[in-house]
Amino acid sequence: MKFDYEIKNLGLASKGKLLIEWAANQMPVLASIKKDFSKNRVLAGLRVGACLHITAETANLAGTLKMAGAEVYLCASNPLSTNDMVAAFLVKNRIHVFAHRGETAKDYYSHIRRVLSYQPQLLMDDGADLVSTAHKEEKINIIGGTEETTTGIHRLRSLEKNGLLRFPVIAVNDANTKHLFDNRYGTGQSTIDGLLRTTNVLIAGKTFVVCGYGWCGRGVALRAKGMGANVIIIEVDPLRALEAVMDGYSVMPIKEAAKLGDIFITTTGDKNVIRKEHFKLMKDGAILGNSGHFNVEIDIPSLESLSKRKTRPREGVEEYQVSKDCRLFLLAEGRLLNLAGAEGHPPTVMDMSFANQAKAVEYLKKSEGKLAKMVYPVPKEIDAEIASLKLRSLGVKIDTLTKEQKTYLSSWKLGT
Ligand SMILES: NC(=O)c1ccc[n+]([C@@H]2O[C@H](COP(=O)([O-])OP(=O)(O)OC[C@H]3O[C@@H](n4cnc5c(N)ncnc54)[C@H](O)[C@@H]3O)[C@@H](O)[C@H]2O)c1
Repeated sequence: MKFDYEIKNLGLASKGKLLIEWAANQMPVLASIKKDFSKNRVLAGLRVGACLHITAETANLAGTLKMAGAEVYLCASNPLSTNDMVAAFLVKNRIHVFAHRGETAKDYYSHIRRVLSYQPQLLMDDGADLVSTAHKEEKINIIGGTEETTTGIHRLRSLEKNGLLRFPVIAVNDANTKHLFDNRYGTGQSTIDGLLRTTNVLIAGKTFVVCGYGWCGRGVALRAKGMGANVIIIEVDPLRALEAVMDGYSVMPIKEAAKLGDIFITTTGDKNVIRKEHFKLMKDGAILGNSGHFNVEIDIPSLESLSKRKTRPREGVEEYQVSKDCRLFLLAEGRLLNLAGAEGHPPTVMDMSFANQAKAVEYLKKSEGKLAKMVYPVPKEIDAEIASLKLRSLGVKIDTLTKEQKTYLSSWKLGT
């Protein structure tokens, strides 16, 4: 049978190989899982359908699944996040890829359906577009799925709450070894990377507005502050707003911050967080970027409707002339700035995220028939194992509890 794929250019494979090898050097935890998988072949004979950002790190995950015996079908989880060189190398290595950078929304969904047409028994998702499309199919035979990101978990919990979820899903995002590192340090650093690559602005001295003080927002704010920006946090959750105040940031409504900001980054997972009434208040030259999962956090249709003229002064930057005296600069079409404007998270954090993904599909396979149609957390032992493996790979040793301490910590008897 013909080996099926659809990518930009197979001739880019040798460049992709170098990128994938570079990332592999910084992914020791995944490498150790790959070694185990090569022996236990836990996914032998299974088809895995994955909708992930097609990056060098994802290529290492796909190779790990293949080593476990799976046939892997991969499509992109964002039209702008595919690295075409990586996609080419994967195809050369007999991983089915259906994606290219800059694909249209129509192509994006046709690639998702193409993956589903191979009737994968395991799904791996980032944002829940693959799983939600699978839910529209009449017949499915799926052991389970995994979900990489916060927004995807929201969508899956909504399916579960409405009694519509058709198979168990593991919430990889909610593992501590995922969101504490990937969302915070990964998004923090790589969003700044995307901002710098697209604009080359100086961050020191700028007023930098971060919308959402969740795991991603905390990371972005921390790095912007470290580079000398005056950071303003926008929140709707009183607890997180309070945390931001005590972390030393200014906190205010977006309506006030809109007048002050030089740079705005959204990381809420919410819709229309920056919208028409806010664009109208902004300073000339303000920069707008998003690192939340979908391109809905900045109200782009309103920005389009307000603008008299749109130009492209640099790769990844669109200039909107919203009034005679005001130009606003939108980065990466409002899509994930760290992936569309840079290379996504560094491999060191994706090592843990994808170790969770690999262990989660192994767990799904081993628990086949025993799980309900629910969203499950990553089992605690897997989370702890990944943390230990990561520490070991970093050469960091830690203490262990003595017998006396274990007894003390589990007893109610000893007090003052
Ligand atoms: N760029 C990346 O590589 C990357 C990585 C991980 C997660 N994500 C995505 O980033 C988004 C945020 O993820 P997270 O893990 O930080 O989520 P989170 O739930 O920890 O944080 C989101 C925060 O935004 C706040 N918020 C919601 N609506 C708001 C509004 N209208 N105004 C101000 N604040 C608002 C919430 O109160 C919450 O504190 C999600 O879409 C997630 O999927 C992106």
